[in-house]
Amino acid sequence: MSITTESELIGMKKVSEAVAFVLKEMRNYSQVGRTTKEIDQFGGQILNDIGAKSAPKLTYNFPAFTCISLNNEFCHGIPSEKRILKEGDLINIDVSAELDGFWSDNGGSFVIGEDIHKHQKLIDASKQILHHAIFSIKGGVRISDIGHLIESEAKTRGYKVIKNLTGHGIGRSLHEEPSAIANYRDRFNLARFRKNSVVAIETFISTASTYAETIEDGWTMVGNKGGFIAQHEHTIVVTEAKPIILTEMNEIWN
Ligand code: CO
Ligand code: CO
Repeated sequence: MSITTESELIGMKKVSEAVAFVLKEMRNYSQVGRTTKEIDQFGGQILNDIGAKSAPKLTYNFPAFTCISLNNEFCHGIPSEKRILKEGDLINIDVSAELDGFWSDNGGSFVIGEDIHKHQKLIDASKQILHHAIFSIKGGVRISDIGHLIESEAKTRGYKVIKNLTGHGIGRSLHEEPSAIANYRDRFNLARFRKNSVVAIETFISTASTYAETIEDGWTMVGNKGGFIAQHEHTIVVTEAKPIILTEMNEIWN
């Protein structure tokens, strides 16, 4: 969406603070021994208390409130009572919701307990690349130039990017135009970021794979060449200078 009134900005701020708060709380609740289902229900309850509705549930009939992906799972993982968190697990939680007709999206990867499998370097790369990407966005910047930045910074650090997972426009629904803010330089995409538009910027930094594939459950995506992935996501408003980071309070950069 494009923000044209003060009340639209207030609406976007409200839903963004809700999803950011839920992500932060779920992250703190994610401890060794808890199941991904428990974490999802915990987050779903907070969303409910705020009066917000799970976006993947509303939009795609996703069978949970949030997406929780563990280790080899890249995204859209289904929370389950069978998945018990272990020391050193790489987890990704993605929370998106609707509140009063406004939609916002955010996510982050982190390690459960001690980093015994050495995932932190990948996570830090994803966080830092997202930071650099977001602060390079302003009205008039080519979307493909941001993709190029993400891909080249990933390469410099010895990582790859996932080509078929992207950021997206958001605001009046979960996925809007621009529909694909890729993590690589898509030379066929000549579109530019527009001032006042709301977009969800997300990294998909991987150790081995370059494509994500859906498994038999119809939701969970894994890598075509295995390995691990880190994703970090903020919903922002594009301006003429520094963007407004609507989901800043999720503290994924801390
Ligand atoms: Co998103
Ligand atoms: Co998301």
